[in-house]
Amino acid sequence: MNTMNPEINLSKEAPLEEPERQYYYIEKAKKYVKEQMEKLGRQLTFCVVTFGCQMNARDSEKLTGVLRQIGYTEESNEEKADFVIYNTCTVRENANMRVYGRLGQLNRIKRRKPYMMIALCGCMMQEPEVVEKLKKSYRFVDIIFGTHNIYKFAELIATRFESERMVIDIWKDTDKIVENLPSERKFPFKSGVNIMFGCNNFCSYCIVPYVRGRERSRDKEAIIAEIKRLVADGVVEVMLLGQNVNSYGKTLEEPISFAELLKEVEKIEGLERIRFMTSHPKDLSDELIEVMKDSKKICKHLHLPVQSGSSRILEKMNRRYTKEQYLELVRKIREAVPDISLTTDIIVGFPGETEEDFLETMDIVEKVRYDSAFTFIYSKRTGTPAAVMEEQVPQEIVKDRFDRLLKRVQEISSEVCAVHEGTTQTVLVESVNDHDETLLTGRLSNNLLVHFPGDAGLIGSFADVRLDECKGFYYLGTMV
Ligand code: SAH
Ligand code: SF4
Ligand code: F3S
Repeated sequence: MNTMNPEINLSKEAPLEEPERQYYYIEKAKKYVKEQMEKLGRQLTFCVVTFGCQMNARDSEKLTGVLRQIGYTEESNEEKADFVIYNTCTVRENANMRVYGRLGQLNRIKRRKPYMMIALCGCMMQEPEVVEKLKKSYRFVDIIFGTHNIYKFAELIATRFESERMVIDIWKDTDKIVENLPSERKFPFKSGVNIMFGCNNFCSYCIVPYVRGRERSRDKEAIIAEIKRLVADGVVEVMLLGQNVNSYGKTLEEPISFAELLKEVEKIEGLERIRFMTSHPKDLSDELIEVMKDSKKICKHLHLPVQSGSSRILEKMNRRYTKEQYLELVRKIREAVPDISLTTDIIVGFPGETEEDFLETMDIVEKVRYDSAFTFIYSKRTGTPAAVMEEQVPQEIVKDRFDRLLKRVQEISSEVCAVHEGTTQTVLVESVNDHDETLLTGRLSNNLLVHFPGDAGLIGSFADVRLDECKGFYYLGTMV
């Protein structure tokens, strides 16, 4: 983690280089926050609300890092916070609706607290219609920025303190990656690590390539250095993050494969567990399967989104694999790593999906027997090719298919989960149980959770736990 540079001189102009420029603005914003705290006679608080995926979760840690350095303290209740930040997602329509709903609520609070600030960022802000709507009907929002310039957060805050107007800064795309900015981890013992940004796949239903821009890989050295720093700071597990980690490194000056990166990460002493997300089936190489087979640290879990079991629909989705190729990939992976847990994402009701196509999806679920699956109702995203495809499937039919799929997915996953009952496994102890303070919650290598009696002092360390009873999606256990 970076500490501030004590030599920053605010009477000078802001440096043009990053990250120095942001450290300058952190100092500047800090001054304004301090003034406001003196006026109010109390601390100022912030609350970052995160929607969407692990990418956003990681971005929120960066926002939090900046806010703390500026002098804000964290408040978990957004209705009480002096500065509320929504880090938004737009992958499905309902994610957007939730943001508008909650903004209305915040407006009522802000009317009573004029010094309150509201910032919006994340994927939804990359859509021009959204920003138009906010400019027109949500004038009380203070700062709006997108996914490409999140590193400028401190600068935008300082700008807002200096002007009376809404600050809007959205970039269409970027080829830049700014390293070494402050960041705060949610957990002391595990962390997400971005290895790449953006996506080039353009699956026909998906808005992510439009809102996250083109694929950019971080340099291997920067990734390794970050993980080493994290490990020195107490981290034992990392999750390597990218929309398609299997295409990591292809565009770097010195190309390197994801499998090669994993081998380097594996060598880091003190790091115990490696996870990664997400793998696109079309790019999952034999080399990667080999590395997973030989690794002592890569967790026995692979999230491998299938989206549909119908080769016809997969083609319309632009996924670039067939049902048969996917099943062959699963066979190879299971052969190399027999006890691996497989999870997936499935979309129901893609345009043109017939009952027959849907039965292919049900069939692939029977064949693979996923440990768990996230099922989604297709959501039309303006600007994507699928949005203008004919034969959008009627809601009642989609709902019926969704219910049938969900039921089967859940039955299978509780059966699959139960196979580990009675075994003893090493878990990373993550927290005290939400519902029962005498229990701890630990995560297995295969990503399942087990609750067992134990002392909170164990959080962040590894423990051997016998899995006494499977409860469908989790276990009850005892430490041995
Ligand atoms: N990069 C990842 C997925 C990111 S989005 C991958 O390719 O696997 C997470 C999931 O949201 C996707 O796997 C997909 O199942 C779902 N999703 C994306 N766009 C969607 C849409 N328009 N409607 C419904 N679900 C969608
Ligand atoms: Fe979306 Fe496809 Fe990219 Fe995943 S790989 S983010 S589903 S376009
Ligand atoms: Fe949502 Fe953006 Fe992630 S659209 S799923 S937060 S990349």
